[in-house]
Amino acid sequence: MTGETVAPPTRHVVVMGVSGAGKTTVARGIAARTGLIFAEADEFHPPANVASMRAGVPLDDVARLPWLRDLAGWMAARAADGVSTVLACSALKRSYRDTLRQGPPSVEFVHLDGAAEVIRERMARRAGHYMPPSLLASQLATLEQPHPDESVLVLDVALTPDELVSAAVDRLGLARGVAANG
Ligand SMILES: Nc1ncnc2c1ncn2[C@@H]1O[C@H](COP(=O)(O)OP(=O)(O)OP(=O)(O)O)[C@@H](O)[C@H]1O
Ligand SMILES: [Mg+2]
Repeated sequence: MTGETVAPPTRHVVVMGVSGAGKTTVARGIAARTGLIFAEADEFHPPANVASMRAGVPLDDVARLPWLRDLAGWMAARAADGVSTVLACSALKRSYRDTLRQGPPSVEFVHLDGAAEVIRERMARRAGHYMPPSLLASQLATLEQPHPDESVLVLDVALTPDELVSAAVDRLGLARGVAANG
């Protein structure tokens, strides 16, 4: 034995769900509670994707692939530095989640799932935002519910943000300082 200390593996959490499910709120809350580094997936879009979205053109899977690979690469780079992360990313399709899984050694998903009515009402109240009803419908149509073999933590959107953060931290065992800085 050399006596050298082995750093604990880093943790990489992705908070997923349809638009308005609370991904940003909960991912930020997890970061605040645990010290995991937060990132917003939307901010990783390359300029071409941003231009499409501004023009109201939905992104297809081909356009999403480099973006998802960037996100996977961002997590992998943080893992290499011994830094744990929490990402807000809708990750609606299995193939999107599988691309994210190709980044760091392990990715853990938290799915904010539940009644569409709860999300719809919340979005209607969100200040400064207007969500056309068709957006939630199309998100729900796109959502591929995680298969049991993906071992995704599913939490009910009807809980309060505080309850959701606590549930994620407890169920995933993300105590403050867990691999946050190597
Ligand atoms: N558990 C919750 N209970 C009540 N309100 C919530 C909850 N989670 C989020 N909200 C509120 O609902 C709205 C949507 O939340 P948030 O922006 O976190 O969702 P999102 O999934 O990141 O949405 P988007 O897909 O548009 O990025 C915000 O006004 C937020 O304050
Ligand atoms: Mg968000």
